[in-house]
Amino acid sequence: MIKVTIDGIVTEVPEGTTILQAARQIGGEIVPPAMCYYSTLKNSGGKCRACLVKVAAGSAKDPRPMPKLVPSCITMAQDGMVVENITNPSVLETRKGVVEFLLLNHPLDCPICDQAGECDLQNFAYEHGMSKTRYEEERRTFEPIDIGDKIKLHMNRCILCYRCTYVADQLTDNRVHGVLNRGDHAEISTYIEKAIDNDYSGNMIDVCPVGALTDKTFRFKSRVWFTKPLDAHRDCPKCSGKVVLWTKGEDVLRVTARKDQYGEVKEFICNECRYDHKDMKHWVVEGPRHIDRGSVIAQNHYEKIDLLKLKQDVERQLKFQAGKQLDANNTLSA
Ligand code: SF4
Ligand code: FES
Repeated sequence: MIKVTIDGIVTEVPEGTTILQAARQIGGEIVPPAMCYYSTLKNSGGKCRACLVKVAAGSAKDPRPMPKLVPSCITMAQDGMVVENITNPSVLETRKGVVEFLLLNHPLDCPICDQAGECDLQNFAYEHGMSKTRYEEERRTFEPIDIGDKIKLHMNRCILCYRCTYVADQLTDNRVHGVLNRGDHAEISTYIEKAIDNDYSGNMIDVCPVGALTDKTFRFKSRVWFTKPLDAHRDCPKCSGKVVLWTKGEDVLRVTARKDQYGEVKEFICNECRYDHKDMKHWVVEGPRHIDRGSVIAQNHYEKIDLLKLKQDVERQLKFQAGKQLDANNTLSA
């Protein structure tokens, strides 16, 4: 085991653990955001730079700082390493730049995007971005295309995280799509729009962090925050059969895999579970899906509110507001 310090918190992890994984072991606010890394997809990470951190001391043997910020999802932790994430202003400043960069060619069409409300880029921009753009050039545009009969690709929204290509590579028998061209011309393509037709192709929708790959069987049926998610399972010979049903009344509008607290699927599901069983009768319902109260999906949610936590949140917010007002009037020095 090795010891690593992240934002002043010491943790022990096995050798070969990345800084991001070590931070996730600690949990909470110090965990860097990730837009391309995906815990259940091999070789993912290193594309988006959302997870950059400062290494203030490389290791116990060589405590020199690393000269540049490093992507925490692909940088291995070393014994005695000291990492700064939210405690380093230059990391937070750089993250603003990363958001701006990811949004350069983005159409900013959240009001009409099916991913709105559960989009990692929307959350990332909200938490780390600026409210304006300095970009004046024309944005690159692509026509939406069908990838098979169930998936729609809006290349304008793609951030080239490569997650979908890893799904195609690692979960399906034949990869028939990938990233073609480079730079401004790079795009996800199916090599002449070849339909993706295999049992696990639907997982590309779940791993896409933005609204580039959406489920045609759910598109425009409802805003996601008007649906009620339920954990459910069925006996499936192909996959674990453990899913989330996104329901409205008795209707099952969408079926997805279950995601962890970082929005990453642990157990991928087959296309049969995803597309062919949109009937409550086919499922054993386990209960409401737990949704973080900070998420917009939690609006209109029906889980019992944790009153104690709500009270604590309100008190924390009031204290924060009071502190801000006093600072503004110069009646309280920090
Ligand atoms: S389509 Fe989605 S999952 Fe695929 S590279 Fe683009 S953003 Fe990533
Ligand atoms: S999550 Fe680390 S580079 Fe994208």
